[in-house]
Amino acid sequence: MTSTCRICAGTVSLFLDLGPQPLSDSFLPAGGPGAGPAPHRYHLLVGACDRCHMVQLLEEVTREDMFNDHYPYRTGGSALMRGHFEDTARELLQGELAGGRGRQGRDPFIVELGCNDGTMLKVLADAGCRHLGVEPSTNIAATAVALGVEVLPAFFDRDTAERILADHGPADVVYAANTVCHIPYLPSILAGVRTLLTDDGVFVFEDPYLGDVVEKNSFDQIYDEHFFLFSATTVAEAARLHGLELVDVRRLPVHGGEVRYTLARPGARPVAAAVADLVRQEDERGLHAAATLTAFADRVRQNTGALVALLERLRSENARVVAYGATAKSATVTNFCGIGPELVTYVVDTTPEKQGTLTPGVGIPVVAPGRFHDDYPDYALLFAWNHADEIIANETAFRDSGGRWITYVPEVGVR
Ligand code: SAH
Ligand code: TYD
Ligand code: ZN
Repeated sequence: MTSTCRICAGTVSLFLDLGPQPLSDSFLPAGGPGAGPAPHRYHLLVGACDRCHMVQLLEEVTREDMFNDHYPYRTGGSALMRGHFEDTARELLQGELAGGRGRQGRDPFIVELGCNDGTMLKVLADAGCRHLGVEPSTNIAATAVALGVEVLPAFFDRDTAERILADHGPADVVYAANTVCHIPYLPSILAGVRTLLTDDGVFVFEDPYLGDVVEKNSFDQIYDEHFFLFSATTVAEAARLHGLELVDVRRLPVHGGEVRYTLARPGARPVAAAVADLVRQEDERGLHAAATLTAFADRVRQNTGALVALLERLRSENARVVAYGATAKSATVTNFCGIGPELVTYVVDTTPEKQGTLTPGVGIPVVAPGRFHDDYPDYALLFAWNHADEIIANETAFRDSGGRWITYVPEVGVR
């Protein structure tokens, strides 16, 4: 099975079939009319381009179906991520947004794509920095506005970039976290960035790293919203094909391993040695070799098989098993493995919008942490494994009561 590459129009060949899936953030109310788990809506097929090597989905979900007035994800739901974005904002204020750099006396201006609840931009707003968030999910955009962040409720693309340029002038920095990989129409984003950036401005974005996904078997980073899985090799090529240049990369420990990419107009900035270093590392480990991707797909099938076997054994022993973190990622795991309420009684989540709903496709009830604290189960399957340190540190009483955590990244285990 194949599709056409969104970056270079080459042929994308399938290497991993994760089956029929619901939209990963479609939590539906547990009772009342229209209630029940969201149905399967698309086929989760993962492939790589034979020309530019970009790893991408073969089937796309319409953007308005994913990002709308009831999008449930909130950046501020994790203390670790709040800290990460506060650090990022301060770094930008001291670096790219600090003034100087031939701006001829203009105030520095930053545009954030997918600003979500405003966690990052609030720091810049409080510092008096000229900014604009672009956020199509209007419910969450309203949270940012309430914090004093300026937001344009729209999808960023080439046309939106023209509007922003006309209304605000050029941007010194365009920044995006966990958003660029969500956008199948990436060439339009890159054209928009070229429209909007000053001559020496930068486009800085961070997303889950293919290298970490393959190394850690974190296949649940793949779902409708994560259309691309980037690497230095493929981002460098995408930038080159669309009139920009990859000038820096930095690995980040958040969300199970990400890379922060910096793009600029070709020749406008020196290219940091880190770019060639990471591309070389990817070459040496054969990250884009067909054999690497097929071996990854094999491990995904083995690990998911082991997870289902463990949950079935625990059920046969009458152990009480719940899950922790109603993540978008877990939709891939539960729907691919067929893990429903018969194996996992409920999922704990701190997000008010998710509580009282059913998880997409398999219909596991989402409950507030109180239910967990009132009556600890025997096992908790850690769907939010990327926040393991924070969650396990906050839930020491569960361990003290004899409870055990089940993880499946990088492999299935009980701890
Ligand atoms: N940056 C935040 C949120 C990531 S979730 C963080 O890292 O935690 C992805 C966000 O991108 C969502 O809030 C979604 O509404 C937004 N988004 C999706 N498509 C977009 C587009 N074309 N332009 C701007 N934002 C977009
Ligand atoms: P996350 O892993 O950040 O993202 P995604 O949905 O993209 O896979 O989601 C973490 C989820 O876990 C989110 O719904 C909030 C929840 N959560 C808790 O319930 N308790 C916690 O202590 C933390 C850190 C997160
Ligand atoms: Zn391609």
